[in-house]
Amino acid sequence: MIVCVCQRVSDRDIVRHARAGMGFDDIQLELGVATCCGRCEGCARELVAQCASSHPVAALHNATTSDGPQGARV
Ligand code: FES
Repeated sequence: MIVCVCQRVSDRDIVRHARAGMGFDDIQLELGVATCCGRCEGCARELVAQCASSHPVAALHNATTSDGPQGARV
């Protein structure tokens, strides 16, 4: 899903960078997310926060499956 329409940045792009240890400011510099109209900033920050929390996005996806480490899918 595209999070930032202005810069064509997807949720996958943001999650990949967040999981690599980057914070929102670093991701913003790297991808350009939330650097134009700014409407995407809240969603982008939320994605980064989810990845930084103890319950990352991947864990939410795994909650529906009981087998195997398939958490890399986003
Ligand atoms: S939608 Fe991201 S800056 Fe406009």
